[in-house]
Amino acid sequence: MLKMVNKIGSFQWVITLGFLLLAAAVVSSKNHGNQANDLVDIINKNRTSKRLSLLNNSPGLACIALQYIKECRGNCSENNTVNCKPPENDFTEIFAPNCGVELPTFGTISGLIVGCQQKHLDPPEAFSRALIHSNKTLSIIHNKTHTEVGVGIVRAKSHKGAYLWCALFSSNKRNSTFVLEDLGKGIEQKEGCYSGSGVSCSLGGRNANFVFATNCVWTLVFYYLVRSRTSFF
Ligand SMILES: *[C@@H]1O[C@H](CO)[C@@H](O)[C@H](O)[C@H]1NC(C)=O
Ligand SMILES: *[C@@H]1O[C@H](CO)[C@@H](O)[C@H](O)[C@H]1NC(C)=O
Ligand SMILES: *[C@@H]1O[C@H](CO)[C@@H](O)[C@H](O)[C@H]1NC(C)=O
Ligand SMILES: *[C@@H]1O[C@H](CO)[C@@H](O)[C@H](O)[C@H]1NC(C)=O
Ligand SMILES: *[C@@H]1O[C@H](CO)[C@@H](O)[C@H](O)[C@H]1NC(C)=O
Ligand SMILES: *[C@@H]1O[C@H](CO)[C@@H](O)[C@H](O)[C@H]1NC(C)=O
Repeated sequence: MLKMVNKIGSFQWVITLGFLLLAAAVVSSKNHGNQANDLVDIINKNRTSKRLSLLNNSPGLACIALQYIKECRGNCSENNTVNCKPPENDFTEIFAPNCGVELPTFGTISGLIVGCQQKHLDPPEAFSRALIHSNKTLSIIHNKTHTEVGVGIVRAKSHKGAYLWCALFSSNKRNSTFVLEDLGKGIEQKEGCYSGSGVSCSLGGRNANFVFATNCVWTLVFYYLVRSRTSFF
């Protein structure tokens, strides 16, 4: 009987360890979060404090913002300005198809802000230092004609170099433009973050899939620990 209690004790210990590992994995995936969504929240807070309307967080528009700065990722200057001007046609010929934005739903872009920094900035700092670099960009954020917003973030090279931010604004009827194909899923992005997607992401080149895979490995380890213990019963 005493032996049995001992076994149950160690079994519970394994369960506890397993839950700790799972909790750690969940917390680490939560930490990665999606900073593009955080930036949309900050933009909206800043607008509502000026009694301006809330902007819809549009994943289609945000994915296009991500493509835009991916094309500009080599163009962050020493003094943190993005010297880059992708051709107008790229929006419909490259960016939208890369995202799976249904072309007939391509709407009117009413504002664009790009910024870059040599080091990573948390969302509030990214807002005030990378996006608001002059009164001009603040007035773009406060423009009354916008209805939707999308934010993309990427790193110059997947594991090092400058960080680039892009916010795109559009002025169409809400939810009817920049529609992603495949019932809103669009084409999976391998790097960077974009808002509205509900997918967590990381900016060091590791995306949500990496976090998911790590979680799976921990779950398997946990499963085998439990199995090897329970087979003693
Ligand atoms: C720094 O920024 C200014 C514009 O603000 C630009 O004219 C200049 O070329 C930039 N310098 C470098 C080294 O990129
Ligand atoms: C990025 O910078 C390079 C070198 O200045 C320039 O040739 C290129 O056109 C820029 N890219 C874009 C998309 O503007
Ligand atoms: C707001 O954006 C629209 C579309 O880009 C532009 O025509 C208008 O001049 C802007 N208004 C202000 C106050 O900047
Ligand atoms: C909005 O953003 C501007 C620029 O960063 C800042 O000066 C202002 O205090 C912000 N407003 C609020 C209510 O956070
Ligand atoms: C920016 O706007 C603020 C407040 O509206 C004003 O005090 C400041 O002089 C402006 N700066 C520039 C460079 O125009
Ligand atoms: C647009 O979609 C968002 C998210 O799905 C929703 O919260 C919002 O109410 C919609 N807006 C309109 C005008 O349909």
